[in-house]
Amino acid sequence: MFFKKSQKAEKKVCVDERLQHIAFIMDGNGRWAQKRGMPREFGHTHGAATFKKIGRYCESIGIKYMTVYAFSTENWKRPQNEVDAIMKLFDDYIGDCFAEMKDDNVHVRFIGNLDVFPQSLREKMERIERETAHKPFLLNVAINYGGREEIVHACKALLHEGKNEICEADISAHLYTKECPDPDLIVRTGGDLRTSNFLLWQSAYAEYYFTDVLWPDFSPADVDLAVDAFYSRKRRYGGV
Ligand code: FPP
Repeated sequence: MFFKKSQKAEKKVCVDERLQHIAFIMDGNGRWAQKRGMPREFGHTHGAATFKKIGRYCESIGIKYMTVYAFSTENWKRPQNEVDAIMKLFDDYIGDCFAEMKDDNVHVRFIGNLDVFPQSLREKMERIERETAHKPFLLNVAINYGGREEIVHACKALLHEGKNEICEADISAHLYTKECPDPDLIVRTGGDLRTSNFLLWQSAYAEYYFTDVLWPDFSPADVDLAVDAFYSRKRRYGGV
């Protein structure tokens, strides 16, 4: 999709095993466009370009897992033309994946309740997941994703398996993100200080980093700031 070696950004920071999984709430696309007198969809198009740039950069500094919040279970409430524009972006990007996949380092996974999407799109997503499954950098794209829905989905799966007793590990093993460790760092752009139903279970001990930068303006240098903030903190996981 977009991790061709020749396109890698210059490396600024390097991460170690303490920062394996970074997640992004890519907020501020609409305001970015409106500030320029443009329709909100324009912001999403630029946001998608930023997604590529930041994904490429995160992979280049040694991040192993990245999750982006692309479309929530609540985002369907937006005006139909905006929803349509975001869906068209997905479709185009999924097409891109097919074209460039052979040279990439990225294993793409789509997380969320995918049942709502047309069969043809689901097949494309499954094909990308299958064909990139051996790649080292796991990129979760959360679409029609909600943290609460995910937990209910996990519980239903456990009931379906006939479990009548469950533990935390059972829930974790049935989440959409079951293939990767919990996020170490969750970055939210756009200035709002909330989690918006993103990775509710997995974020129990994540470090949060909030920035006023609107997602389309978010740059590798902003990733560096978030990474520096992460390393300045002491994670205690409830201990001392
Ligand atoms: C939040 O900004 C952003 C979204 C709901 C959509 C995110 C989509 C993309 C970045 C593009 C597509 C992504 C991929 C993976 C191809 P907002 O619209 O809520 O901004 P606002 O807070 O300024 O209104």
